Amino acid sequence: MKRVGLALVGLGNVGRRFLRLLIEHDDTLREKYGLAFSVHCVVDSSGVAVSDDGFDLAHLLEHKGCGLKLRELREFDEGLTLAVALDNVQCDILLEASPVDLNTGNPGLSNCRTALEHGLHLVLANKAPLALAQAELDRLAADTDVGILYSATFCGGLPVLNIVRRDMVCGKILGFRGIFNSTTNFILEEMLKGRSYADALRETQERGIAEADPSLDIGGWDTAAKLVIAANSIADTMITLADVSVSGIEDVQPDRLQQCRREGSVLKLVATAKRIDAEWRFQVEPTPVPIASFLGSCSGWEMAIEIQSDIYGKSFHKLWEREPVPTAASMLRDAVHLATMGRQGSL
Ligand SMILES: NC(=O)c1ccc[n+]([C@@H]2O[C@H](COP(=O)([O-])OP(=O)(O)OC[C@H]3O[C@@H](n4cnc5c(N)ncnc54)[C@H](OP(=O)(O)O)[C@@H]3O)[C@@H](O)[C@H]2O)c1
Repeated sequence: MKRVGLALVGLGNVGRRFLRLLIEHDDTLREKYGLAFSVHCVVDSSGVAVSDDGFDLAHLLEHKGCGLKLRELREFDEGLTLAVALDNVQCDILLEASPVDLNTGNPGLSNCRTALEHGLHLVLANKAPLALAQAELDRLAADTDVGILYSATFCGGLPVLNIVRRDMVCGKILGFRGIFNSTTNFILEEMLKGRSYADALRETQERGIAEADPSLDIGGWDTAAKLVIAANSIADTMITLADVSVSGIEDVQPDRLQQCRREGSVLKLVATAKRIDAEWRFQVEPTPVPIASFLGSCSGWEMAIEIQSDIYGKSFHKLWEREPVPTAASMLRDAVHLATMGRQGSL
């Protein structure tokens, strides 16, 4: 049995579901994968708590599920930083699920640097560090010979980045486009049915799908961050958010949705990566697509991508995710891959 120590930053919608999966699948992880995970360091907005023996996950979940902060926990250490915590407890992997900040990247970016400098593998649900600084993080990981996996950052549970990187051997990606944000996809679908924008947004928030700052969804920035991550992961580019032209759905009115419908199309927030000669163009914008097309048939809680490659044809991938269990499951699979294969597990 291999013992694997985890540090988890962010105990919100995603982080708590990840902990629940660890509890529910403990037997499978031991029997099928030979892995005994324990959590030794946790971080929320109040600070850092550590446990040498590993936290009682059911107790931790109950504590956070009641809306309490880590500072009210016995293991909390006032003023402790993540760096000092990682100096003192044995962790192998840091999982980052704190809120996105696409201006500074923090707290996620500085947490990633700290983890990599301490020789920990990294699993990300938070898109900001990759959207702003993937090249730097890749260098740091190479320096300390650790891996970074981030399948949870791209369309929740959809394992498409892993599939392309692992299975499209020798393939070249010629272009891709898709619907990468279910909050906006759901809102547009509901507005077409006559529901108010505010009411539909509220439902995505209640289900834990919307970003903590929903203007990231509505303004197209969450989609753009995923476009950057996908491009850098599968299209041999190394871009940042600054390379993407972005417009969101904030100005979309119900009459425009109805007009598209009358013309046989449906308005979607579409991300496009297009290669024109040797140049790539990256764009996010509300776009009418034919109702009967792959993207046109992508319903509210779905996210989807179509990928054109040279030798693997055109492939279509989509996921239905109405609450973030599949996102948490993506973090679990990434942790398992890194724990079993080390840096090689990062594809
Ligand atoms: N929800 C989804 O469907 C989904 C899907 C894919 C990816 N993601 C990504 O996953 C991440 C987490 O999303 P979520 O929905 O779980 O968010 P959330 O419910 O808002 O939870 C965020 C967690 O981060 C903690 N936090 C806030 N500021 C912090 C800081 N400065 N340092 C450390 N921790 C801090 C919060 O602490 P408190 O508990 O004290 O408030 C909370 O535990 C985000 O980056 C998001 O983009 C989410």
